[in-house]
Amino acid sequence: MDSRPVGFFDSGLGGVSVLGEAVRLLPCERFIYFGDTAHIPYGDKPPQQVLAYTHAAVDKLVALGCKAIVIACNTATSVAAGVLRQELSMPIIGMEPALKPAELLPGEGYVLVLATRVTLSLPKFHQLMRSYGQHAVPVPCPGLMELVEAGVMDGPEVDALLQKLLRPYAGLRIKAVVLGCTHYPFLRRPIARYFGPGVALVDGNLGTVRQLQRRLAQEDLLSPGPGGDVTFLSSAPGAEAAMRRLLAAHAGIFASACP
Ligand code: DGL
Repeated sequence: MDSRPVGFFDSGLGGVSVLGEAVRLLPCERFIYFGDTAHIPYGDKPPQQVLAYTHAAVDKLVALGCKAIVIACNTATSVAAGVLRQELSMPIIGMEPALKPAELLPGEGYVLVLATRVTLSLPKFHQLMRSYGQHAVPVPCPGLMELVEAGVMDGPEVDALLQKLLRPYAGLRIKAVVLGCTHYPFLRRPIARYFGPGVALVDGNLGTVRQLQRRLAQEDLLSPGPGGDVTFLSSAPGAEAAMRRLLAAHAGIFASACP
């Protein structure tokens, strides 16, 4: 048993979509969430730069006494998870586009993988494509995370960008769409509207939190409670308020209580 907090990290707001699942599934845990808002977007930056930012963020969470780290960012995981696991002995939970569950869904058609340019260009994703990419089509989505960061999560601006990014794939028969960036679950409604019924939208958030739960249990690090408190931190002054609002706005979906 260990009542120290779990550290969450993303380039900005996106990881709140993962944190929400964690708050719901692990109500006895305490959480510290750090969004590196000053350096968004990670997905269009050189990997070395993303590695340096991720190191700085994780060092901060470790210094704050976290017992485990969730890299709630597909881009940072692709760049840094391997290195961090060699350097630190605590559980490091990463993310990858949920291509496996999408590919295994029944039905026929292509699986579009929406993610950042960096995520789609690195060896981790190429490996995933070799294992589960028979029907996968990688779709880089520059601009989408910026809309989420600006608080624009539905409406004409989102629709216009989706039209532009997805037009090249309009003729394909599509079975599923992978939301391979943690910002994209906040755009679930306009993305579902764009594809229409019969196309599954798949994210890796719940799978990631279940993995966190397993690792905490294995290492005897689960908290006895009381939990439920979340501290938000950001590299851009004032950004914490948006993170807190976003979690609260989804509280109905995520709510749970520590027994
Ligand atoms: N939320 C991040 C991800 O899951 C990255 C967004 C960005 O900074 O470009 O990939």
